Amino acid sequence: MNCQILGNESQKEITELFTSVFTSSKGEKEGKLIGKLSSALASNIDNEEIICFGVYENESLISSVFFTRLKFNDPIKVYMLAPVAVSTEHQRKGIGQALINYGLDELKKRSVSIVVTYGDPSFYSKVGFQALSENEEFGVKPTIYT
Ligand SMILES: CC(C)(COP(=O)(O)OP(=O)(O)OC[C@H]1O[C@@H](n2cnc3c(N)ncnc32)[C@H](O)[C@@H]1OP(=O)(O)O)[C@@H](O)C(=O)NCCC(=O)NCCS
Repeated sequence: MNCQILGNESQKEITELFTSVFTSSKGEKEGKLIGKLSSALASNIDNEEIICFGVYENESLISSVFFTRLKFNDPIKVYMLAPVAVSTEHQRKGIGQALINYGLDELKKRSVSIVVTYGDPSFYSKVGFQALSENEEFGVKPTIYT
């Protein structure tokens, strides 16, 4: 599988992918919303604060994921993973996990300490995230590299 870093020249393909995947899985309103979010993120990709990865098959973008830096007073490097999408016809073949693992490996190389996300723990637990209960102080699911 050919996972790669994407730049803002891929904005159109990224927006189309997220819009179509989320329209199919969550309906038209959510599709438009996540399409707009991914478009805004894609136009600001700088491969530092906003990092995007993708998988191409037959020259079409079939999966993509964003990692955005969360800034704190502390110099610790923390990123949030969201959103992620795999094209509807390619889902449940391991592509989402492979792309996220590729992204997490790349972040580890860049000395990132923590990655958080939100969403279905039964998917994200497969790529190393641990669920926190809603009673805990932070409602996020971090991967902590030691
Ligand atoms: C969620 C998503 C990114 C997963 O990528 P994927 O390539 O389909 O997933 P993988 O094949 O790597 O892993 C699938 C496994 O994760 C688990 N899983 C749990 N919830 C899941 C879900 N909603 N969708 C897919 N897999 C899920 C299952 O164990 C599944 O294995 P199985 O097919 O044997 O049951 C993709 O299905 C997708 O884009 N869905 C629509 C958009 C979305 O919900 N994005 C995430 C929120 S930001």
